[in-house]
Amino acid sequence: MDFRARLQALADQLGPWAPLWSRSILQGWPGSGAAYPEDWRAYARSIDEAGERRLDQGELVGAPPPSLSALLNSLQALTALPWHEGLHALTVTETQGLTAKKTHELERVLALLEPRTRAIRRAVDIGGGMGHLARLCARTFGWTFHSIDRDAALQDKGRRWLARTSRADGDTLSFIQASVEDGPQPRIDPLFSGLDRASIGLHTCGPLALTQLRKSQGAGFVLNIGCCYDKLEAPRDYPVSHFGGAHPLPFTPHALALTTRGRHHKTEAEFARMKRVYAWRFAFDLLSRQRFPELGFVRAGDAPRALYDGPFAVYARDRLVRLGLEPGMTDAELDAFEVSVRAETRELLLCHLLRDRFARALEVVLLLDRALLLEELGFQVELLQLFDPRLSPRNLALIASRGA
Ligand SMILES: C[S@@+](CC[C@H](N)C(=O)[O-])C[C@H]1O[C@@H](n2cnc3c(N)ncnc32)[C@H](O)[C@@H]1O
Repeated sequence: MDFRARLQALADQLGPWAPLWSRSILQGWPGSGAAYPEDWRAYARSIDEAGERRLDQGELVGAPPPSLSALLNSLQALTALPWHEGLHALTVTETQGLTAKKTHELERVLALLEPRTRAIRRAVDIGGGMGHLARLCARTFGWTFHSIDRDAALQDKGRRWLARTSRADGDTLSFIQASVEDGPQPRIDPLFSGLDRASIGLHTCGPLALTQLRKSQGAGFVLNIGCCYDKLEAPRDYPVSHFGGAHPLPFTPHALALTTRGRHHKTEAEFARMKRVYAWRFAFDLLSRQRFPELGFVRAGDAPRALYDGPFAVYARDRLVRLGLEPGMTDAELDAFEVSVRAETRELLLCHLLRDRFARALEVVLLLDRALLLEELGFQVELLQLFDPRLSPRNLALIASRGA
């Protein structure tokens, strides 16, 4: 794939809409709504509940404004990435105790590695957790494997797992407890070098992905699957490639948080739940503005799940107590307030549904920038969709090899 052309095209599409995707809707409300063209908002207002759900899946029902359909079509085309097909079926014994998500990820990662790592004999896993991938790679491919993680407790669990399932011919996996950081680390850096070495990071949170890529410049093969992009900091972590630096987009913390929201096809129940969470949060925000204007934006925080299932008054009171605030309202008045602001909370929801359309495109921009960094370091690079997003939404795999 021509990563440069793709990044350039995405930057051209996304740039003009930066005021919309780079800012928080709620914190800037109602002014933030002005970034959304009036015909987009009028269209969103006109759709029914089924249409809202379709919009959440990136589909436009009825007669959408031409500028909105053109943008979504173009973002859809530019975020389409090839799929890695195939899986390496694990046995019942191998998957015992693993979640469906973990099994799915492992079966796909093993299948991806198999044909690409014929020259590999040794491997390192960064942020390897309990070492499931390391254990299976060591056993499937016969590699000598070091699994590094800063969490000693997780590694202990992994050691026990390894011992429980140990094989007669022994295992070639060692756990190393260390925090992997940028800059020289003489104890672990050699584990990332050598043409017969694979460097693997499966769901490396935030900047850990970049630490892996930088440490792995001397590796023969690199696989990275990132996550938690909201833990990145721009400009430290984006752009990282020269080409990306020449075509930068304003990745604010709000935009980085949005990249973690790219998620295909919520079920009906998941969508209904999202709507309820939004409805309560937005009504709480409007309440706190009305009652405590001097406080400015008040963070409601994540409430216990059950509070979103009950009446607004119970949710609001829980949040108010947590914040040490007393609105001087009865439960009936709190519930009546929520009903009175429904038109406005729907506007907020619709703006969010529109803004969410940018999530995947922004995530792909971050990954293209990383792909270009690897190309600039001399690797041959692939960027593939690897996991079913319903099971594992952060499903983009960066694959880099030194070639023959
Ligand atoms: C999202 S988990 C992924 C674990 C495992 N790769 C998997 O897919 O199940 C990220 C892991 O990275 C580890 N981690 C985060 N930052 C780290 C760092 N700087 N050095 C080493 N490990 C780190 C965490 O302890 C955690 O186990």
